[in-house]
Amino acid sequence: MQPQPWTFFLKIFATITLIQTLLNQHSISEASKITSFPGQPKVKFQQYSGYIAVDERQKRALFYYFVEAETDPSSKPLGLAVHLLELELSVNMDPLNQVETFSLRMIIVGIKSPAGVGFSYSANQSFYTEVNDEKTAQDNLVFLKKWFIQFPKYKNRELFITGENYAGQYVPQLAQLIVQSKAHINLKGIAIGNPLLEFDTDFNSRAEFIWSHGLISDSTYELATKGEASKEMSHYIGEYDVILDVCLSSVLARSAVLNKLEDRAKIDVCVEDETVKYLNRKDVQKAFHAELIGVRQWTGCSDVIEYDTRNLEIPTIHVLGALVKSGIRVLVYSGDQDSVLPLTGSRTLVTGLAKELKLNETVPYRAWFLKENRLLAGHRCMVTFYLMPPLKELLMKLHFHIQRDL
Ligand SMILES: *[C@@H]1O[C@H](CO)[C@@H](O)[C@H](O)[C@H]1NC(C)=O
Ligand SMILES: *[C@@H]1O[C@H](CO)[C@@H](O)[C@H](O)[C@H]1NC(C)=O
Repeated sequence: MQPQPWTFFLKIFATITLIQTLLNQHSISEASKITSFPGQPKVKFQQYSGYIAVDERQKRALFYYFVEAETDPSSKPLGLAVHLLELELSVNMDPLNQVETFSLRMIIVGIKSPAGVGFSYSANQSFYTEVNDEKTAQDNLVFLKKWFIQFPKYKNRELFITGENYAGQYVPQLAQLIVQSKAHINLKGIAIGNPLLEFDTDFNSRAEFIWSHGLISDSTYELATKGEASKEMSHYIGEYDVILDVCLSSVLARSAVLNKLEDRAKIDVCVEDETVKYLNRKDVQKAFHAELIGVRQWTGCSDVIEYDTRNLEIPTIHVLGALVKSGIRVLVYSGDQDSVLPLTGSRTLVTGLAKELKLNETVPYRAWFLKENRLLAGHRCMVTFYLMPPLKELLMKLHFHIQRDL
């Protein structure tokens, strides 16, 4: 079955708008309410989207998309999803989809950050030439503070910040800034998946990962300079998920091969291409309260930002340690299908950190079942550590999951 287009936009964050400056404070959250999206069936949850200006003088604003939990939203914690390329919130998807489960338990705010990504923008384009981790964290904090002004009933709600990949930089850095700035934000924890935590360990684990998954030959593995092994991987392998089929339209023209693959695909591997088409429809942008400012079209990866790539090498693994010590829960979850930031790197780093912090294992590594143990989803193993002194229960968790095509 072809997914409906509205499912694509649920995979995105955010929105915005200039309209908000024209409105008074009380009606802002009402104005950002989404009545319906083209193609979206009737839903039982409330959804909002819009812009939060993070620098009014420079006209820089981050777009957000906000979904309330379907049941009992007044008691659910708040989740902030930072810069996920695709936020898997679609209720139309595989019921075993983990993030869906997550969204039912939480209220989710997704943002596209920094400005220049997705519908987020800076009217002063010189901002794009100097974007880095520090500015991103600052803008994200301003976003959160201002978002709570617009949605005051969530102000004291428990907050969890999540993200994956490069959000291994963004999420811990934002959490650290919240702690350091003593902002009145009830931050409880962070969760990061296949995160970039420390450049050398993360990137040097790639060659072994793709070799161990049978994707390159022994000789390539032996000869490969660590970063180059992936060149032998064919176009039929997606580096962000080495087991899933790839979307061929973005690799080569649709061919007979695709027809064979399509029957098996339970996950829509072309969702990225479809998302781009959907979000570039004028009616969709209107429904989303989104505008294209300074760019001709919505893209999954920014064409305008020149990010300071030296920031890749800023380690955030020790930020996790500092967060644990200040009572923030940290969950690192790395799936075993991502060859860009493989779970082997995450595991090495988190295990090393746990040793350094003298955290003791409390729950042994184990298999993981979905749906009250009736369905084996594959394996997810969890290691939980408690740090007893200073007598507060500080929790640090590391779990891995191996999701199988069910
Ligand atoms: C645009 O931003 C740059 C760098 O942040 C700043 O130097 C410049 O004054 C800004 N331009 C305007 C018109 O505000
Ligand atoms: C961790 O385990 C060691 C060895 O069993 C024990 O000596 C130590 O007190 C434990 N540490 C904590 C924080 O519980």
